[in-house]
Amino acid sequence: MRVLLTGGAGYIASHIAIELIAAGHDVIVADDLSNSSPLAVERVRRIAGAPISFTELDVRDEAALTALFEKESPEAVIHLAGLKAVGESVAQPLRYYDVNINTTLTLLRVMAAHDVSTIVFSSSATVYGTPTALPLTEESQVGVGLTNPYGWTKSMIEQILRDAAAADPGLNVVLLRYFNPIGAHPSGLIGEDPKDIPNNLMPYITQVAVGRRDHLSIFGNDYDTPDGTGVRDYIHVVDLAAGHVAALDHAPSGVSTYNLGTGQGVSVLDLVRAFEAATGVSIPYEIVERRPGDIAACYASADKAERELGWHAAKTLEDACADSWRWQSMNPQGYAA
Ligand code: UD1
Repeated sequence: MRVLLTGGAGYIASHIAIELIAAGHDVIVADDLSNSSPLAVERVRRIAGAPISFTELDVRDEAALTALFEKESPEAVIHLAGLKAVGESVAQPLRYYDVNINTTLTLLRVMAAHDVSTIVFSSSATVYGTPTALPLTEESQVGVGLTNPYGWTKSMIEQILRDAAAADPGLNVVLLRYFNPIGAHPSGLIGEDPKDIPNNLMPYITQVAVGRRDHLSIFGNDYDTPDGTGVRDYIHVVDLAAGHVAALDHAPSGVSTYNLGTGQGVSVLDLVRAFEAATGVSIPYEIVERRPGDIAACYASADKAERELGWHAAKTLEDACADSWRWQSMNPQGYAA
């Protein structure tokens, strides 16, 4: 199948491209490069040993997107283009709603005009808000009490896609709710490359390890969790990427929703220790105040994806730590080096 990846130069999409090519699909990348590097696409070509068409465009630009569809004839779309920094979304809500919602609306219009009927959407566990019970299943409550515009855009886009599918029974929608992606391709050639100070835990840890930051701040150790630090479900990005291939190959027609996680809750301190054990590098840290908007614990039930897609996360936390470190130590300044 010819698969268009919007936001295709980004951290998650670059790993998806490799898994798609390995499974025999052709990959078309569209990205505005606002938070990614063309070098990522170059590296994916190198790893996959296959040509990848790359077009620099903003998915909201309907004329440019139409031209891309006419030139490349995609048969399915994996939609990852969007802004994703939680704090920034609180400061710049209109920009977040504009970019995230309008990329999706434009994409759906252009897909309909070209009879492309399959879309896989990069959603997030953030749509569950504060969990009332764990693990989270696809039936857990969504879209209540979200604490930031970024989270709302994910929730709203899920609804937009459901409504679009209700109006067009030929449209197939797969909503993939990512838990916490970490790790990198084992080659060390591609990985996560935050442009500013990392918001997320693993890139912060690897930047401390490589000497770009002097210590990690742990946001609270008084949560109701086994060691008091926040608990999350960290999934290796290569497993996450494989989940997209499984979704394209096996999701039923109509609308379907899957959690992509490991099912394991891991605390901040667990992750620090796992990183130290896997790499031999020690991570100095300091306990500081809780981060506003953070929840105590969040992890998935990934049973539905196993049952219906035949997919489960196969890599270990140690694999993820070793691979994150390989990427960061081979590319201390990310793609800028
Ligand atoms: C965050 C976002 C979430 C988004 C996800 C993926 C918030 C409140 N939530 O999730 O909406 O979908 O990223 O981009 O930002 N931590 C530290 N020190 C750090 C960084 C993180 O102690 O420097 C802790 C956090 O308090 C948390 C855990 O590490 O307990 C994971 O944090 P993070 O990687 O930011 O992911 P989430 O908070 O799960």
